Amino acid sequence: EVAHMLLYEGKAKQIYQTEEPGVLRISYKDEATAFNGEKKDTLLGKGRLNNEISSLIFSILKEAGVESHFVRRLSETEQLVKEVTIIPLEVVVRNVAAGSLVKRLGFERGHKLKTPLVEWYYKDDALGDPLLAEAHIKELALATPEELAQMQQMALRVNEELQKLFATINVDIVDFKLEFGKTNGEILLADEISPDTCRLWDKDTGDSFDKDLFRFQQGDLQEGYETILSRLIEAHS
Ligand code: C5P
Repeated sequence: EVAHMLLYEGKAKQIYQTEEPGVLRISYKDEATAFNGEKKDTLLGKGRLNNEISSLIFSILKEAGVESHFVRRLSETEQLVKEVTIIPLEVVVRNVAAGSLVKRLGFERGHKLKTPLVEWYYKDDALGDPLLAEAHIKELALATPEELAQMQQMALRVNEELQKLFATINVDIVDFKLEFGKTNGEILLADEISPDTCRLWDKDTGDSFDKDLFRFQQGDLQEGYETILSRLIEAHS
């Protein structure tokens, strides 16, 4: 067993080189953070849950024709992905008002939006990931107008597939965050799609099965994530 180089360590993941050029290994950690790292804790089993859920979602998206950096699940807590250069944007899609949209624009939490909203945030911890207008993205040269249009289209396509997927397990996908990367000039969906990066509400009870459980001490995070994983496995095996 060769020790491979750790390329990057974030709040929730480590990224390692592999034997294969252009392929990286992501190891999901048991760390939970919120409010730009101000709140943190170790939650046993969270890494496994996010890796399993993210692997399943990327596989289902691929079957639906949505390509991503995902190559395959490697173990309970690890997956192989294609190496990309991450575009420093967090692309948020919203179907229902919650979180920062409620705070910023005064919508009532749970208000169904007329049309899905796509928002751009600058992936910059020091600045606190601020909301960006397209003019800012242009000025900062974070992406070209063509790349933005492509990411917007991909984000809305992912939203359609996720809405269909979560409907099969009686869950509403309220909002979620995507990241994109570039490889050979091509834009690819990257990072993760998990209850860490989505708001997921039970269609009947309105219960949250996502990181809000941790953010606002609303309940047991592992139990919520386990509910999502077991419902997905039951519906898709
Ligand atoms: O906080 P806000 O309401 O803007 O978050 C919108 C969605 O994006 C939520 O599902 C949240 O979990 C996700 N998000 C994320 N990473 C961030 C910010 C938001 O996954 N840094």
